[in-house]
Amino acid sequence: MPTDLEKLLSQQSDGDWAKTIEELQPAIHPVDRSATRIWFSFFPVKLFRALSEAEDPAAVAKRLILKGNYLLRDQIDSSAEFLYGYRYWPEVRKEVAAAGAAGSTGSIATQIRAVAASLASRLRIDESLLTGITAVGFGTLQQTGLEVFSQPAGSANYGRSWQKSPDQIVAERQRDDGKGLFGFLKSVDREFSVNFREQESGCSFKVVNSQDLTMAAAADQRDWHTKDSRCRPKEGPIPVECRTAACGTCWVGVLSPTGKISEPNQREIDRWKYFGYEGFTADGSSPVRLACQLKAYGNVTIVIPPWHGLLGKLDDPSAK
Ligand code: FES
Repeated sequence: MPTDLEKLLSQQSDGDWAKTIEELQPAIHPVDRSATRIWFSFFPVKLFRALSEAEDPAAVAKRLILKGNYLLRDQIDSSAEFLYGYRYWPEVRKEVAAAGAAGSTGSIATQIRAVAASLASRLRIDESLLTGITAVGFGTLQQTGLEVFSQPAGSANYGRSWQKSPDQIVAERQRDDGKGLFGFLKSVDREFSVNFREQESGCSFKVVNSQDLTMAAAADQRDWHTKDSRCRPKEGPIPVECRTAACGTCWVGVLSPTGKISEPNQREIDRWKYFGYEGFTADGSSPVRLACQLKAYGNVTIVIPPWHGLLGKLDDPSAK
């Protein structure tokens, strides 16, 4: 018999989650506000339902041209590694599983806050550091089911080697590379850094302010293909194909303030819907962008999702 929380979670759509995450935003530490939105964009309920309710999930994956690691159940303990609160994941997983088994009641947002508050008091940390990652825990429980989710987290470092404080990280996202002594002469072609795995040192490349991110990433000649087969050899860490907003391969989450990146053009906005990467666009902004359309006006921190595909086909039955 499903518990009350399981029943409630089974009714949540991506739109419901969008409202819940917006409601929770003030309670989430700034270090994880965008990251929480990004996580729910990377692991949409729409995709989970399409695959779990299909008679032939492999056929659905083929029709949506899914590539990469798109099943949350295969990455329960690693999907949230870009959240600062990820360091508390084993405890959060245990606490959320207990809430699921206890059949707690109340809205999802209320239950997330209750679990985060109780755990924060036990760990003696600020509740705001746990609210985003606890929301991720509830989202993961929805897609994996209580039996699987109740298993203990595997042994891993869980980002604990990421030594910076949350406030330090937020401040670093605001900062840009120094201009140097003659910086005023470089105002036209200023160079910035793009960090694509904030929790790991050495994961950045340079971009000139007129370049799109995928073109700049291609200068990073390290072997990213072995780590993620979607990356083309010698074309950098961001998976890329068309570079014209046509294929949806290059979507990324943006952790930096929106003032440091170019605004989406109409074509990009239209294509989000086609790709199914809409995210939360109520105020015209989105936590996800197409890197091939994205220019940097300062240092930028992004997250590369583990999969891509054409989710928009689920809303268009005529689309083959
Ligand atoms: S590379 Fe195809 S949409 Fe960006």
